[in-house]
Amino acid sequence: MFDYNNNNYSRRRFLTQSSLGLLTLSGMPGLLNAMEGMQAMPKLTPRQASPNFKPDVEIELSCKQGSVPILVGQQTKVMQYSAKLLLGPKEAVTKIPGSYLGPILRFQKGQKVRIHLHNGLSEPTVTHWHGLHVPAEMDGHPLYAIDPGAKLVYEFEVLNRAGMNIYHPHPHEATATQVYHGLAGALLVNDEEEAALGLPSGGYEIPIVIQDRLFDSENQLVYAHGMHNRMTGFYGDRVLVNGRADFQMDVDSRAYRLRFMNGSNARIYKLGWDDGTPLTVIGVDGGLLEAPETKPYIMLAPGERLDVWADFSGRSEGSQLVMRSLAFSGVLPKMGMMMHTSSLPVGSDYPIFTARVTRKVSDSPKLPSTLSKINRYKITDTANPNNPVPIAISEGHMAMLLNGRPYRYNDPLPSERIPVNTIQLMEIFHAHGGGHGNQPANEGQGGGMMGMGGMRHGGMGGMGMGGGMGMGGGMGMMMAMAHPIHLHGQQFQIVSRSIDTGTEEDYATVREGFIESGLKDTVLVMPGEKVRIIKPFQDFKGLFMYHCHNLEHEDMGMMREFLVE
Ligand code: C2O
Ligand code: CU
Ligand code: CU
Repeated sequence: MFDYNNNNYSRRRFLTQSSLGLLTLSGMPGLLNAMEGMQAMPKLTPRQASPNFKPDVEIELSCKQGSVPILVGQQTKVMQYSAKLLLGPKEAVTKIPGSYLGPILRFQKGQKVRIHLHNGLSEPTVTHWHGLHVPAEMDGHPLYAIDPGAKLVYEFEVLNRAGMNIYHPHPHEATATQVYHGLAGALLVNDEEEAALGLPSGGYEIPIVIQDRLFDSENQLVYAHGMHNRMTGFYGDRVLVNGRADFQMDVDSRAYRLRFMNGSNARIYKLGWDDGTPLTVIGVDGGLLEAPETKPYIMLAPGERLDVWADFSGRSEGSQLVMRSLAFSGVLPKMGMMMHTSSLPVGSDYPIFTARVTRKVSDSPKLPSTLSKINRYKITDTANPNNPVPIAISEGHMAMLLNGRPYRYNDPLPSERIPVNTIQLMEIFHAHGGGHGNQPANEGQGGGMMGMGGMRHGGMGGMGMGGGMGMGGGMGMMMAMAHPIHLHGQQFQIVSRSIDTGTEEDYATVREGFIESGLKDTVLVMPGEKVRIIKPFQDFKGLFMYHCHNLEHEDMGMMREFLVE
């Protein structure tokens, strides 16, 4: 086992040399199974605390059933996280009173954190720290799921820069239902660079976690499992903020820092103020931008975060501002749209929350003109400037796939094996399913460079399209939809976005809502869109997942792994 007591340098070097996440399985039950079958998820003995790890913060995090008031009348049964601070500063855990959301966890960059996860549910679970750069073994891979009643110990150092991350379950094929029933929370990292800015804090820094839910007449959550819901993702008809229906916040006439997270299973929002006031964006998934950006609206897909400077100064007492999701089109399959019957259609215009100025104050902080320094890579810094790692999205009637395959544990394609401590150019694109197997999907799209028969895909020759078999190209386009693609591990840069002809009209309804200047871990890829990213794979070896953060897609297998070795 590894020694966390070492200084950072030797610890990292050791991790680099020891193929963490694979070698650490040695001697654990199930290894043989894993080696031979490559399919079944082996069962591991839950990890215990290491006596050599000296935590700065220690937390017991439990998942259990509970009930909370959401709508008027009967309470709603949920699953929820609760946390007990065992060691460390008290700001590490902040409860959100009355909400099913987990408490806000707040860590400082450089802190060593130990978390005892206790499974108080009646099904297996595991928790993933979405956005954090941690060893594979600490990443909440489904491999590490624990049974009801069991405990699992995570130990890691916070290497991330300041930013908002997410903690949520990641068990095999059950992420969507567990998140839907309430298991999710915000994990904030702070650092010195951020502190020096004096951004609004305390009561002036407000988390805005957006989720849609469907209730029955007894106020209980309804989760629909049908094939159609799996294909398009699940959509509720009520939008909750921080676990509350009809969320309102009373504000002073001054600047606030609003920290958005899209915690919905599938719903994509186009955030904009009702009076046309532009959004001042100061950060995204991977923390602060270098400088603020002003946008008419922002697209926020499941798994994405957004840091907004909202200035209410100059507004009169009693005035209101409503954050809405504005109208847009093109994210659902044309065919799915016909069947999409939610009374709150995706892409329609509806309110999310109201901010009401209830107190006039004379003082307000000033928006800094520069925010942070981002360590940026150029294409020439990548190991593969002419040969991007493909992430091919394929959509069929019965299957949503990446690189032509459904999820299988420890089943890396040649293109999914990444040498540790390299920086990779990657390309996310639609493989347009229509075709069978190894047909080049769509000339002019993957075009020459990235066709499905291309060099990088050497090992993928025989892949089938699952349920997509037999559908024509037109049908393929009918199935095309937007996918928020999330990569575990370090944050990436977006290098370029380009779209297919024929999708411009829909694209025009969303195109100003993307931020390319910040670091990301989740990117919304629209139908017909191709996105190039640069992602570092430093420090840690092992299996790191990448998947669609439409959680129904994730659970139906639209997930793969990179084997960093
Ligand atoms: Cu937010 Cu692999 O997940
Ligand atoms: Cu993640
Ligand atoms: Cu998807």
